[in-house]
Amino acid sequence: MILPNIEKRQKNSSIHDKVMFLLNDLYTESNLSRDQLFFLLEHLSKEELPHLYNLAYKKKYTYYQNKVFMRGLLEISNYCSRGCHYCGIHRQNKVISRYRLSKEQIYTCIDEAYSLGYKTYVLQGGEDPYFTDELMEEIIREIKQRYPNTRITLSLGERSYASYKRLYEAGADRYLLRHETASKELYQHLHPSDMDFEQRRECLTNLKEIGYQVGAGFMVHTPKQTNQDLVEDLLYLKELKPDMIGIGPFLAHSSTVFKEASSGTLEETLVMVALTRLMHPEVLLPATTALGSLHKIGREKALKVGANVLMPNISPTATRKDYEIYESKICIDDTADHCRNCIESRVVGVNHQIDLSVGDPIYYNERR
Ligand code: 5AD
Ligand code: FES
Repeated sequence: MILPNIEKRQKNSSIHDKVMFLLNDLYTESNLSRDQLFFLLEHLSKEELPHLYNLAYKKKYTYYQNKVFMRGLLEISNYCSRGCHYCGIHRQNKVISRYRLSKEQIYTCIDEAYSLGYKTYVLQGGEDPYFTDELMEEIIREIKQRYPNTRITLSLGERSYASYKRLYEAGADRYLLRHETASKELYQHLHPSDMDFEQRRECLTNLKEIGYQVGAGFMVHTPKQTNQDLVEDLLYLKELKPDMIGIGPFLAHSSTVFKEASSGTLEETLVMVALTRLMHPEVLLPATTALGSLHKIGREKALKVGANVLMPNISPTATRKDYEIYESKICIDDTADHCRNCIESRVVGVNHQIDLSVGDPIYYNERR
């Protein structure tokens, strides 16, 4: 069980004092030891949450103020050769209909996204062999030729070093590949035997070495996940130093082996988002669609505890419902235009401000 005291803890002022002390320490040092992180997760309760959330917001504000970077998310294919146990588009799911967008459909969506103001496009899909290096290279070059001062993010799963390199050279700037969990045992529980924990990590180090801005991340409350596992996630991220960290609740899907499992909660996910902001002051942290699907103002709540990126859907309305990695996904009947406006009013509603620049992390120009 994760965060066992989050709902209610017996009154105990010495534990309360220690938790407050650790939160303050995390705020000033951006780090804690393995034991301290574990103590925090074991004992954190509702009593300390306002303090944690305030510190995380303050930290975000120091680096990014109340700006929210926007990325248009295009779901290019729901074909997948993988069998991740949690995911609704896993290869054995016969219930969903499969689709892939043509080059022309992709360009049409990007044209529309550009006209809506987006300067970053995330091309996401299952691991679909149809999208070869040749084809991806052509698509990346075409988008960059149409819109030179933009950023292309890929989220296409595990590929070879040579493939990542080729797509980077074609003009891709960023790559999202969640590590999913930093514990080998849990990784094996969540994935079939043909997926390899070390290989996934190697993909992430390869992406960094090639020069991509890299996004890692994990789900909160997956089956069998413990506080120990979450501590490993926080420490692994400290070591990897990704540019972006995607954190969302695990949401049980009825066509997966985890259909009976319990899903993550809003509070658990917000705690992990807030702790991640404190440990990684400069990182890009999305308020995830999964959180928005779990709770009607889940994304807004994430913005208030340290998140600073939103990824509204720019996929054609017709295919949205089929990109069902979890159920009750929001926006499936909406258009890119509708989501763009919806997001803006939500952001403004919580005293944040839309930022339509390419949205690199603040240290990015210094490092290059
Ligand atoms: N619930 C929540 N998140 C999920 N993902 C996949 N399936 C689910 C689910 N059932 C997340 C994974 C993946 C990302 C694209 O979506 O972390 O990396
Ligand atoms: Fe799509 Fe609100 S973001 S409808």
